[in-house]
Amino acid sequence: MNSSLWYKNIVLYQVYVRAFCDSNADGHGDLAGVTQKLDYLKELGINCIWLMPTYPSPLKDDGYDIADFYSVHPDFGTLDDFKTLIAEAHKRDLKIITDLVVNHTSDMHPWFQAARADRNSPYRDYYVWSDTDQKYSDARIIFIDTEPSNWTWDEMAGQYYWHRFYASQPDLNYDSPALRNEMLQVQRFWLDLGIDGFRVDAVPYLIEREGTNCENLPETHVFLKEMRRVIDEEYTDRVLLCEANQWPKDVLAYFGNDDEFQMAFNFPLMPRIYMSLYDADKTPIQWALENTPAIPKNAQWCTFLRNHDELTLEMVTEEERQHMWQAYAPDPKMRLNLGIRRRLAPLLENDIRKICLANAILFSLPGSPVIYYGDEIGMGDNIDLFDRNGVRTPMQWDASQNSGFSKADQLYAPIINMDPYSPSMVNVADQQKDENSLWSSVRNMIQIRNQNVVFGTGELILLQTSKAEVLAYTRKDVNETIFVINNLSDLAQEITLNIVSEKQKLKNLFTGNSFDLRENQLLLSLAPYQYLWLS
Ligand code: GLC
Repeated sequence: MNSSLWYKNIVLYQVYVRAFCDSNADGHGDLAGVTQKLDYLKELGINCIWLMPTYPSPLKDDGYDIADFYSVHPDFGTLDDFKTLIAEAHKRDLKIITDLVVNHTSDMHPWFQAARADRNSPYRDYYVWSDTDQKYSDARIIFIDTEPSNWTWDEMAGQYYWHRFYASQPDLNYDSPALRNEMLQVQRFWLDLGIDGFRVDAVPYLIEREGTNCENLPETHVFLKEMRRVIDEEYTDRVLLCEANQWPKDVLAYFGNDDEFQMAFNFPLMPRIYMSLYDADKTPIQWALENTPAIPKNAQWCTFLRNHDELTLEMVTEEERQHMWQAYAPDPKMRLNLGIRRRLAPLLENDIRKICLANAILFSLPGSPVIYYGDEIGMGDNIDLFDRNGVRTPMQWDASQNSGFSKADQLYAPIINMDPYSPSMVNVADQQKDENSLWSSVRNMIQIRNQNVVFGTGELILLQTSKAEVLAYTRKDVNETIFVINNLSDLAQEITLNIVSEKQKLKNLFTGNSFDLRENQLLLSLAPYQYLWLS
């Protein structure tokens, strides 16, 4: 494959730097710690790291509130540490992308400080001001649990400022040419350091217009195309990944005509994997697949089960949301905004069969999958921690003090210390030694995926099965056909699949065993939650 299309066949791994590995015993994970763990990531088989924000920040939104685009927060290290991490990742043939927050800054950013202090400051126009809080009233509030309005009065400025997230995150004004240029410079700065691309945060909200919901507006796309032009004209083989929590038809626009983002998260698919698993019914996943539009030739979806935020239930109906909340967040403390603030393993009742199946579905569907750090070993969560911090606790490397994460006395957050999720029961070192562990299973899936490009680039054809409990599909390209069969239920299932193939035998990619095809029929006895990848 053309090397500039590298993102089509990757497995990504999302690193929350603070939680990953503390190299200097100050209780916070850091960039040097990530560098120390590159061999681990290589062994797991992933191909691309997504680093969450490490910019200087007052950390009111865990670094998504940037106070300086050109530097590194002291907790995480220095720019030199960043360069070392990039170089060491590249040595191991790992790509590395980082978050770029374009929609807003921290209110502690010098631009905002200058803007609020002086109406005539050149930075005033970098933000969105108003004398009333009545403008753009059709825009929804995203952080509904904490923010009463998208406008906040600023005493010093003598005006209201606009913010789609926390009030401490004023929105940037993309109607300002100076601001637009400045943000392109930010992009160049990190590309010059060698970063392979960006997960661009919160892109639907760049532009505000009266009478609209202020999302996905045409002028937003104009700027995003400028970002892409920088990547294409000034650099090689870099990628832009779009975070737009929107319905597929709106996300589609962010691929442009192969001239905007190369990748975008598939938000509507994610909750439907959980729905299908809970209901033992393939309908929700099939619905998502059937409603995922074709994307431009060089574009790729990015798929995921969990991330650092709440499991968002924005891209579901009200009825589906209530169902998901009842199923997966019976305790109100588990809910946040329109979502669920829990990790993968607790969501799936720590049932390794279900967790493996969810991963197997993710890894076999179209798109490049992302693993959220710690989910490869089934880490737990802590719903007593504020906001989304419950899914951002220290990585559990081994059963020792501080789970091998840090040698400090005091950590940025408590380790999960409740069984069955405490480090003595859930840690990397033990799972690496056990070939039946979740870690080994996930690694196995990644390896098979890495060996079969059809998972990244092949087409998907849904297969009819007589049972709602069995989700089956084919991944296919000119060279290869793989049949994927998933039993979504906790009961064994007998099924017959009609498969048209010249071959009489299909090979199980996990075990090497073969299955006989008789007159284009495949008879299968599936164990509870079993998945098969047959070539
Ligand atoms: C994105 C991030 C989230 C952050 C928000 C505001 O949705 O994933 O963590 O709070 O943007 O930057």
